[in-house]
Amino acid sequence: MSRSGGNAKGRSVTLHMVSSLDGFIAKNDNSVSWMDSPGNAYPAGVSISEEEVAAFLKSIDCYVMGSRTYEHALELGWAYGDTPVVVVIGREWPPARTSVEFYSGDLKTLVGVKLGLRYRNIWLVGGALLSQRFLELGLVDEIKLTIAPVLLGDGLRLFGGSLSEERWNLKNVVAYRNGFVELSYTAPSA
Ligand SMILES: NC(=O)c1ccc[n+]([C@@H]2O[C@H](COP(=O)([O-])OP(=O)(O)OC[C@H]3O[C@@H](n4cnc5c(N)ncnc54)[C@H](OP(=O)(O)O)[C@@H]3O)[C@@H](O)[C@H]2O)c1
Repeated sequence: MSRSGGNAKGRSVTLHMVSSLDGFIAKNDNSVSWMDSPGNAYPAGVSISEEEVAAFLKSIDCYVMGSRTYEHALELGWAYGDTPVVVVIGREWPPARTSVEFYSGDLKTLVGVKLGLRYRNIWLVGGALLSQRFLELGLVDEIKLTIAPVLLGDGLRLFGGSLSEERWNLKNVVAYRNGFVELSYTAPSA
C-alpha cells in the first residue's frame, strides 16, 4: 500500500517541483525566465524529444495545485491540456475550463476519496504552501525535484517552514543536457 493510502491498483501521489540551486521555486516578481533552458550546458546529460515528453505527460491522470499556482498558470498560458486538474482553493471561483474543478476541504478526503477512486497517477504540482500541507499529512508517495542550474538569491522557498525531519529514499537521478537535474525520492514507508 502506498503512503497516500493507495490500493493494490497502484495509486500514487507524486509531488513535482522545480527548484533553484538555493532552494527557491519562484521569484518575488513571479517571473519564470530562470526556468529557461541554458542550452547545451552539460553534454554528458540526456536529452528527451518532444514525443517522449508528450508520451510521459499522457501517463499523468490528474494534476493537483494550490489556488496561487493556478492563478499563475492561467497568467502564463495553460500548460496542462485537457488532463483533469483539481485546484485546492478556499474561495468561490468559477472554473475557467471544463478540465478544471475546484476543491475546498480536507486534503486526506481529497486524495483518499475524491481523487483516489478515479485516478492512479496523481501529480501535485505546487505551490510551496499546498505541497507542505500534503507532506505534513503524509499524502505524498514520491518527490520529483528538478534542480535548475541557477541561484536566485531570494523568492518563495520550497516547502516553506515547518516540516519534521524524515529520510526519503533516492530512487533515480537524471542529469539533462540543459544542466537541469531531476531527483526522484520515494517516501519512507512507500
Ligand atoms: N517552481 C515550481 O516548480 C513551482 C510549482 C508550482 C508553483 N510555483 C510558484 O509558486 C507560487 C505559488 O505557491 P504558493 O505556495 O504561494 O501557493 P499555492 O500552494 O499554489 O496555493 C496556496 C493557496 O491554496 C489555497 N488553499 C486552500 N486550501 C488549502 C490548504 N488546505 N492548504 C494550502 N493551501 C490551500 C489557499 O488560498 P485561498 O484560500 O485563497 O484559495 C492558499 O493560499 C507561484 O509563484 C507559482 O508560480 C512554482
